[in-house]
Amino acid sequence: MQLQDNVAIVTGASSGIGKEIAHAFAREGAKVAIADINMQGANDVVSEIEAAGGAAMAVEMNVMDEAVVNAGVDAVAERFGRIDTMVSNAGIQIVHPIEDFPYEQFKKVVDIHLGGAFLLTKACVKHMYPRKSGSLIYMGSVHSHEASALKTAYVSAKHGILGLSRVMAKEGAKHGVRSNVICPGFVKTPLVEKQIPEQAESLGISEQEVVEKIMLGETVDTEFTTVQDIADVAVFLAAFKTNALTGQSIVASHGWYMG
Ligand SMILES: NC(=O)c1ccc[n+]([C@@H]2O[C@H](COP(=O)([O-])OP(=O)(O)OC[C@H]3O[C@@H](n4cnc5c(N)ncnc54)[C@H](O)[C@@H]3O)[C@@H](O)[C@H]2O)c1
Repeated sequence: MQLQDNVAIVTGASSGIGKEIAHAFAREGAKVAIADINMQGANDVVSEIEAAGGAAMAVEMNVMDEAVVNAGVDAVAERFGRIDTMVSNAGIQIVHPIEDFPYEQFKKVVDIHLGGAFLLTKACVKHMYPRKSGSLIYMGSVHSHEASALKTAYVSAKHGILGLSRVMAKEGAKHGVRSNVICPGFVKTPLVEKQIPEQAESLGISEQEVVEKIMLGETVDTEFTTVQDIADVAVFLAAFKTNALTGQSIVASHGWYMG
């Protein structure tokens, strides 16, 4: 087991990519905190992990609320003794052409992805620095490197996450904390299922064309990346032992982005 006795907190772990990362961490021996606004989903994931013999706890956490993030992270450290791995993964998607994009919605996307990542990092390093050890993992996207129409908010936030992670690689180094970004291509989760009809309507094309041309058109094999693919990368980063691998972004996207 690659993560025996590791303590991990994963935000947005009630669904999709975060949920699979939580399961993969638990299978590798980690104790996992499932932090999400969706408590029904979080409790279900905890039950599944416990039923499989693992250790997990649910934490109600809106990543936009600093006091809530601090209290949630402290509760995990209290229950499991420390924080070794942070996965900042909670996210939403809102798509509009800029001329129709309400500023409130732009701010919400940036606040959840980038503001949430900042707050979670700030809360977690308090527990990591004194122990001279920790792994910060951010869920970026191919959209941390590439742009797509309709996604001013999401692409801005995901590019910002690269900057945040790189600063943390520099600030964290002397404390034994490394920092990396995972950049998935399209993964069929609720976040993406919702976009298919929305983009079809905004772009005036069929749903099939959205999938084949917009989402997978630049991949080498017209295939979706899977939640398991991303969980494998997260386990690799969490288990990596030295600062040799810090300040990086790992793109898993069927060759959509080659950087
Ligand atoms: N699905 C993809 O194709 C894809 C590709 C690249 C990157 N990503 C990124 O992966 C991450 C997870 O996305 P997913 O596809 O699994 O989506 P998802 O919708 O399946 O899961 C997102 C989770 O985040 C939670 N969440 C939303 N707002 C929150 C908040 N304010 N505080 C705490 N939790 C909140 C939701 O309740 C949900 O459980 C996101 O950061 C997303 O941008 C997804």
